[in-house]
Amino acid sequence: MRAIVYHRYGSPDVLQLEQIPTPTPADTGVLIRVRAASVNPIDWHFVRGMPYGFRMMSGLRVPKETRLGMDIAGTVETVGAGVTQFKPGDDVFGVCRGAFAEYASTPATALALKPANLSFAQAGSVAVAALTALQSLRDKAHIRPGQKVLINGASGGVGTFAVQIARSLGAEVTGVCSTRNVGLVQSLGAHRVIDYAHEDFTQSGQRYDIFVDCIGNHPLSACRRILAPKGMCIVVGGQSGKWVSPMDRLIAARAMSWFVSQNFVSIMAQWSQSGLAFLAGLMASGQVTPAIDRTYSLAEVPDAIRYLETGHAQGKVAIIV
Ligand SMILES: NC(=O)c1ccc[n+]([C@@H]2O[C@H](COP(=O)([O-])OP(=O)(O)OC[C@H]3O[C@@H](n4cnc5c(N)ncnc54)[C@H](OP(=O)(O)O)[C@@H]3O)[C@@H](O)[C@H]2O)c1
Repeated sequence: MRAIVYHRYGSPDVLQLEQIPTPTPADTGVLIRVRAASVNPIDWHFVRGMPYGFRMMSGLRVPKETRLGMDIAGTVETVGAGVTQFKPGDDVFGVCRGAFAEYASTPATALALKPANLSFAQAGSVAVAALTALQSLRDKAHIRPGQKVLINGASGGVGTFAVQIARSLGAEVTGVCSTRNVGLVQSLGAHRVIDYAHEDFTQSGQRYDIFVDCIGNHPLSACRRILAPKGMCIVVGGQSGKWVSPMDRLIAARAMSWFVSQNFVSIMAQWSQSGLAFLAGLMASGQVTPAIDRTYSLAEVPDAIRYLETGHAQGKVAIIV
């Protein structure tokens, strides 16, 4: 089968489309004929091995894992002996290591059935970004109807899901984006949109119960100003640096909580079958629809990653296999 493979860190130029053996699923695993995938910032962190601190996990000198891609949608080809939940022919979506390939194997617990109203490109764009948004809002912030929620980076992969999920859970949603994305964020259901080119949301005097920060372009002390006295700031992402950023912001957020009345937390999204099933329900009922910006072929994964790396994608960037 053909797969995107890399053997050293570097720019997306190090990615190659190679012939490799088709994986065999473990007893608890599923082999999927991949129909679509999508790129996430974590993919270019893996390719570049940046920040350097990241290499403690991904391999110090060369990447430990040569396959890339985490979001997947496709059709079940075979299942391991211990899998009863899925059968060959089922259309599924979820999380996987090595999704940029014609076939990929992943634990059954990392998958859910694809809602019939979703295309493969849409379903393949869900997992990492939507689980991050869901786990931030529902599991960290315990979002309740009527709460005021601010999403910084509302036009990105995580943000486009966060706006829709917060709205579907009954919150009053404000999204922060640039002028060209105001229409997109409004169409996703935001009650109010702040154009960052014209307004600094930390200076508005508004207070929010929940602040989901996908960008990290304001000091945490400024973020504190916009929180209600018992409000929560969830640090999802931050500005990338050479050594540890954005990891340092995630750690600083936790430390900040010890000194102030508001809650500052960071999130590291978890693979969760119940989360995927919950998202499938929201998507089947039309409350959440993945916003796809561009699509690329498997051979064009390096271009897709280059585009995402600009930091200006509008929603998700899909890979059609
Ligand atoms: N903690 C976790 O588990 C987790 C999981 C997933 C992602 N992340 C992190 O979360 C962050 C967001 O991920 P993503 O997938 O949403 O990234 P993304 O899709 O690449 O985000 C791009 C979006 O950010 C917007 N943006 C750029 N600068 C902005 C600014 N100053 N203010 C508001 N919006 C701005 C861009 O809009 P314009 O071009 O119009 O500015 C674009 O729409 C990344 O740092 C990623 O590493 C963390």
